Amino acid sequence: MSANPIVFDYPRTEDVLNAQTHLSQAEHDRLVADIKRLLKEQNAVLVAHYYTDTELQKIADETGGCVSDSLEMARFGHAHEADTLVVAGVKFMGETAKILSPEKRVIMPTLEATCSLDVGCPAEEFDAFCNEHPDRTVVVYANTSAAVKARADWVVTSSIAVQLAEHLHEQGEKILWAPDRYLGGYVQRQTGADMLMWNGSCVVHEEFKSYGMEKLLEQHPGAGLLVHPESSEEMIAMADAVGSTSQLIAAATSLPQDTFIVATDNQIFYKMQQAAPHKQFVAAPTGGKGATCRSCAHCPWMAMNNLQRLKDALEDNSSANEIHVDEAVRVEAVKPLDKMLAFSKSLNG
Ligand code: 13P
Ligand code: SF4
Repeated sequence: MSANPIVFDYPRTEDVLNAQTHLSQAEHDRLVADIKRLLKEQNAVLVAHYYTDTELQKIADETGGCVSDSLEMARFGHAHEADTLVVAGVKFMGETAKILSPEKRVIMPTLEATCSLDVGCPAEEFDAFCNEHPDRTVVVYANTSAAVKARADWVVTSSIAVQLAEHLHEQGEKILWAPDRYLGGYVQRQTGADMLMWNGSCVVHEEFKSYGMEKLLEQHPGAGLLVHPESSEEMIAMADAVGSTSQLIAAATSLPQDTFIVATDNQIFYKMQQAAPHKQFVAAPTGGKGATCRSCAHCPWMAMNNLQRLKDALEDNSSANEIHVDEAVRVEAVKPLDKMLAFSKSLNG
């Protein structure tokens, strides 16, 4: 593993949400109407992640956009004929959209929404790490900067990480994996591949603690546990289903339990409830020993996406909310991203 994790400060989700203006019903309705009008006027489409505010997810649904996991966001944006992609999520998602579709304008409600995995894997340090291990195939998670993707042989999302590692393992390739050590550990245990890990983590999923699980299961006997693989090994070991956000929603519908404890960002409850209306969803515990609960099951950066910022981004012609990727970086980064899309397509048949 790379020596030490990169240390950085990050906002508390509660503070991010408290700093946002509370809207009256009339203000809310006006904003929603303005956003829908602006999307239409600009031939723009809204591509939102499951972790964004329910109000943004609803607009994406109602205007022909998409609400999905990070792989489908990339695929949808690339295939869509809109002139402008409005990406509600975190910066790497906007960058991925721009890398895949350089001819499109890509804007985001805020460019300040980053991701602890992205911040924890600076391009220069990562390049040096790769240079120390030239015998390894470099596989990076989508939750990375454009420059880190440009240094990689492959990009993956959590929905296809196990299958890709399996594929590379079968070819006899040794893997250098970055940045999430928890997802990497899960993939390694599933596949037996030889994987050298970067020492990064997600500040949201790392907070889910197995200590509180027994107590919660006493309150909900027979409940199933759905866990995103950015969570700890202990949480994963207890899970009934482990997978990307889309895969967890699918598991909520296909598994027989009526109640699920969910170890991922709580904004996913909106789509889970829609997919399985008669089931009950309970947030996994984030308190207990070792937990700081700065994020408390909702990503502080995803929480920065809101209606007002979305409208401002659509109205602003200054390009302050527009994603730009250096062309030299883009032409390198698009190679592993194209491979990711092709690999995922081959899995789907
Ligand atoms: P998914 O690819 O499962 O949507 O995950 C993205 C993410 O950021 C999870 O924290
Ligand atoms: Fe990054 Fe974690 Fe937020 Fe996902 S939930 S965007 S991995 S910090």
